[in-house]
Amino acid sequence: MTQRISLTRYLVEQQRLEGHIPPELRLLIEVVARACKRISQAVNKGALGDVMGSAESENVQGEIQKKLDIIANEVLIEANEWGGHLAAMASEEMDSIYAVPNRYPQGEYLLMFDPLDGSSNIDVNVSIGTIFSVLKKPEGAQSVEESDFLQPGTSQVAAGYCVYGPQTTLVLTVGDGVAMFTLDREQGSFVLTEENVTIPEDTQEFAINMSNMRHWDEPVKRYIDECLQGKEGPRGKNFNMRWIASMVADVHRILCRGGVFLYPWDKREPEKAGKLRLMYEANPMSWLIEQAGGASTNGRQRILDLQPTKLHERVSVVLGSKNEVERVTGYHCGL
Ligand code: AHG
Ligand code: MN
Ligand code: MN
Repeated sequence: MTQRISLTRYLVEQQRLEGHIPPELRLLIEVVARACKRISQAVNKGALGDVMGSAESENVQGEIQKKLDIIANEVLIEANEWGGHLAAMASEEMDSIYAVPNRYPQGEYLLMFDPLDGSSNIDVNVSIGTIFSVLKKPEGAQSVEESDFLQPGTSQVAAGYCVYGPQTTLVLTVGDGVAMFTLDREQGSFVLTEENVTIPEDTQEFAINMSNMRHWDEPVKRYIDECLQGKEGPRGKNFNMRWIASMVADVHRILCRGGVFLYPWDKREPEKAGKLRLMYEANPMSWLIEQAGGASTNGRQRILDLQPTKLHERVSVVLGSKNEVERVTGYHCGL
């Protein structure tokens, strides 16, 4: 029988062999995974668990919150605040940072999350997920400030997501490739099911919300138009389109079989850099994609190099199979 490797064992072995997961970071990842199991249970209950529908409140970004956005946020905070591994947390659903209360020991890590990604899909039983990113608190200061979080994506020490779909799958990087773990619901543990995930450099599949086409910038219009011309056009091959409207599920598909995902800046709200959030969505996903051999830019620059200026900063995103991302980026840079 092939041996099953649990998330716990994977992390212990990574810590022992590679030496790049300190014990506190291992604890942190396990706690996040445990929280994701609880969120997965809530998601699975659906209409039987009073988790559907709107909470009728608004988050700092002016979006109406779903009940599950709030439940997932609370689960992540409760699970992580007492273990001594964190200094503070920040979430898409909270206005400002959440410092670990004084009654608990303070750790050296900062945790950021999009507790529930794909909120518009909750009530229609389509894949949704949790995205997370871990930074180290800058050395020196006693207290923790919002500015401590404003580090570029290259400073992340762990990142991942958990997708709640037909299976619940946790996807993780600590800077040594990408590993996938499937939740064994009977055992209640995540089991390693894919290691060294690699994205093919070429693809014939793109993901974009086509209903925004009239608002796009020229380079995005040109790229998609060329894809749509298929075999008869300049690309000389047909393209397929997928758009799940849960970034977590679209990125998961790309990690599994390649593809390119775009959520570009558009003219609907020109003052915003994009729809997706740099700290909770773009940075962790960009690191995973790069660790799997793909690329990720904002159309012009590598996302992981961007210096954040505020916690809830938004960004334009082009990520996935390397050659397609380079093509879209080239179109923006006038190449
Ligand atoms: P969230 O549910 O966390 O607010 O994120 C939703 C995001 C992302 O997951 C998805 O790719 C995109 O919004 C979908 O946007 P459209 O509704 O414009 O397609
Ligand atoms: Mn999201
Ligand atoms: Mn969200």
